[in-house]
Amino acid sequence: MCGIIGYCGPKPAAAVILEGLKRLEYRGYDSAGLCIYSDGRFHIIKRTGKIRDLRNSVPPLLKGDFGIGHTRWATHGEVNNVNAHPHTDCDDRIAVVHNGIIENYVSLKEKLKSEGHVFQTETDSEVIPHLIEKYYSGDLEEAVKEALALLKGTYGIVCMHIDHPGKLVGARNGSPLVVGIGNGESFLASDVTAIISHTKQVVYLEDGEVANIDADDFRTTDLRDQVIEKKVELVSWELEEIEKDGFVHFMEKEIFEQPESVKRAMGGRIEPDLATAHLGGLNMSNKDLLNIERVRIVAAGTSFYAGMVGAYLLESIARIPCTVEISSELRYRNPVVERNTLHFAVSQSGETADTLYAMRELQRKGATVLGICNVVGSTIARESDGGVYIHSGPEIAVASTKAFTSQVTVFYLFSLLLSRMRHMSYEEGVDFIQNLQSVPVKIEQILMNNQAIRNMAVKYSHFKDFLFLGRGINYPVAMEGALKLKEISYIHAEGYSAAEMKHGPIALINEETPCLFLVPDDGLKEKIISNMREVKSRKGKIIAVAVEGDSEITEISDDVIEVPRMKECFYPLVMVVPLQLFAYHCAVELGRDVDQPRNLAKSVTVE
Ligand code: F6R
Repeated sequence: MCGIIGYCGPKPAAAVILEGLKRLEYRGYDSAGLCIYSDGRFHIIKRTGKIRDLRNSVPPLLKGDFGIGHTRWATHGEVNNVNAHPHTDCDDRIAVVHNGIIENYVSLKEKLKSEGHVFQTETDSEVIPHLIEKYYSGDLEEAVKEALALLKGTYGIVCMHIDHPGKLVGARNGSPLVVGIGNGESFLASDVTAIISHTKQVVYLEDGEVANIDADDFRTTDLRDQVIEKKVELVSWELEEIEKDGFVHFMEKEIFEQPESVKRAMGGRIEPDLATAHLGGLNMSNKDLLNIERVRIVAAGTSFYAGMVGAYLLESIARIPCTVEISSELRYRNPVVERNTLHFAVSQSGETADTLYAMRELQRKGATVLGICNVVGSTIARESDGGVYIHSGPEIAVASTKAFTSQVTVFYLFSLLLSRMRHMSYEEGVDFIQNLQSVPVKIEQILMNNQAIRNMAVKYSHFKDFLFLGRGINYPVAMEGALKLKEISYIHAEGYSAAEMKHGPIALINEETPCLFLVPDDGLKEKIISNMREVKSRKGKIIAVAVEGDSEITEISDDVIEVPRMKECFYPLVMVVPLQLFAYHCAVELGRDVDQPRNLAKSVTVE
């Protein structure tokens, strides 16, 4: 989703901003722009397409030591150069970049127009510079605050005024914004990725806060001008983590990082002597944990599927009733919050608006909500009542891969913790831990089949429709596999319970609709084999992800991807990996933009 960077300092602002925008590309965007102050005037350049198109349009000699830049993911108004940010006031003396949605922009725009303001764009964002213009009488920060007080909706903004060289004003309400503090230079950005090559010292703004920066200093206040003292925090990851490191795509790199990222999700959280898990950030005593009678998980997309695996684990291993819900639905259906129910908000980015608002709604009703997030300092991580970081490192590809396996790993740990407080014996706990700790090596074994999976993807990538079928704890994995395929290759794919196929989707089966079955050697294997035969007798093609050496499955299937044998409940962590690789190679084969698929954004900060 949209990205922001602002810079004040001695370096050439255009270069810093273009580099920051390049690093924000992963969020998803369709146009980009920047405004640089140089020789007493604003230079505004905006382009649809990629950052390289914008870079090619920026005069190489453009100097300037402060400016703002933006990647736009269109919501209001079509994708074109005019609608790209920054937007300006009537006289081009104020420039603003905005993330989020201004819900009352129509009425504000009408009023401003009736007062003589002339608008250039179809965007909701353009009302902001005009409102600032209206209230400006020499003090930019004051005018910004007056303007913001009139906005309904969400924003992360940064603005600059031609009469205030070297100063930027930023503010947030529902859309993240951080201040970066460098050596004689300062930044404002929508996420730290944009500025990490310059500084690791950051201040995370909260909703309702305004930051005023120049090269040497920053000041934070609320909208009523009360000064707010902020803590400077240190970003814990390294620049190398957001580089491709020899891989062609970030997605490929992130798939291959999983043996390590799963290990990191477990790191320091297993207590071998007690055969249990220790999750420090929960902010819950053993007594609190023992009082949990139910769990509810809210999330979106891939995190929702990770939550589904989590729900299955919590019920089957910890014997605690658990439901999982799409966050956007939960928020608007006036959910009942029951006593002794623990809630989880699962989100890689920690910024997904649907999940954030669902969490706030639950908290408003008195629920305790724990976050399972990747991005440290993200809004969900900060506003939750406690939680667990998955420590995957930055996930740059839009399609989520390593976050899924790490989120699921955290649910294994949480299930172990709760089970060991209840019915699970020490010996069972030891066995559970051994199985969990064997997962990274098993993922490595699957990654060694990369070439075979690639060959299979080449063979199947011309098909237009796929069914992904699984059962039990692997049913959400089938849905996750289908989501991966559709989002990056644009091949239509549906994930279903294999048993549910006969209730409808079987009508789709013919030689043009391959079915990808997940077939572990668990209690449901024979049932799945019956479903496979049903497909076979209708001339459907079958790809199976099955346990190594399973000749029965090889005999029914057209193609088999083998995974190592595991204890039943651990299959999701390995079964998902070939599905990620299959989707990845299909997308590459079809020449898709793997890391930034069309229409998608990494961090979905609008509803
Ligand atoms: C799929 C994908 C999305 C996200 C969803 C939630 O590959 O990336 O479906 O999983 O937008 O995002 P987070 O986990 O950041 O809340």
